[in-house]
Amino acid sequence: MDTDQIILNTKSFVQDKLKNAEGGHDWFHILRVYNNALHILKSEEADALIVQLSSLLHDIADSKFHDGDESIGPRVAQNFLESQSVKPNIIDHVINIIKNVSYKGGHNTSSFHSVELDIVQDADRLDAIGAIGIARTFNFGGFKNNPIYDPDVPPKSNQSKKEYKKSNSPTINHFYEKLLLLKDKINTKSALKIAEKRHAFMEDYLEQFYAEWDGHL
Ligand code: ADP
Ligand code: NI
Repeated sequence: MDTDQIILNTKSFVQDKLKNAEGGHDWFHILRVYNNALHILKSEEADALIVQLSSLLHDIADSKFHDGDESIGPRVAQNFLESQSVKPNIIDHVINIIKNVSYKGGHNTSSFHSVELDIVQDADRLDAIGAIGIARTFNFGGFKNNPIYDPDVPPKSNQSKKEYKKSNSPTINHFYEKLLLLKDKINTKSALKIAEKRHAFMEDYLEQFYAEWDGHL
């Protein structure tokens, strides 16, 4: 099977799998991450097929929607890629990326590293910040029935992976627990340029949020 056909099949597979997904982790999230990854790829020496397959499959079965089971996503991706007769060394690399792309409160201890992982990770992180990042975060907070903001509940730093994952903190806290930390974790130059703009937008947003909260009309 040629590469273009594999990519097309992967897109249809992911779109179908994610048809009932939460709004911040749906097919449109995948498409934005895929497009971010293609943009970053232009400035990097990397394997395009690995970057494309990993960005499309990176959230195929997110553990936060599967009782914390982190093995489902990689397994689903592996079975799919085998069904497309993708070469075993490419499958291995894609699976390693899927296992390592996630933030999980900063607790990612694996030693796997590649430029393709850097790209997909940046592409995913860009979609977690800026205007889209804000929308996704409030959508997720609403999905979990968390409060928007509570001035009496301060953000937590240094949460364990378990605490981070089951947090029912106010959604504004997530800005301090994750979103505002992402800019300094970006791997590639071209993503950093975009991240800086989106980071500044979130800072402006928070300033306006507190002004309105405090009744400054
Ligand atoms: P990843 O999927 O990269 O591991 P996360 O699990 O932290 O990253 O979540 C991805 C996105 O889901 C975040 O960028 C955010 O928009 C939303 N999200 C995750 N956890 C929370 C939370 N506790 N409150 C609000 N939004 C969250
Ligand atoms: Ni993602």
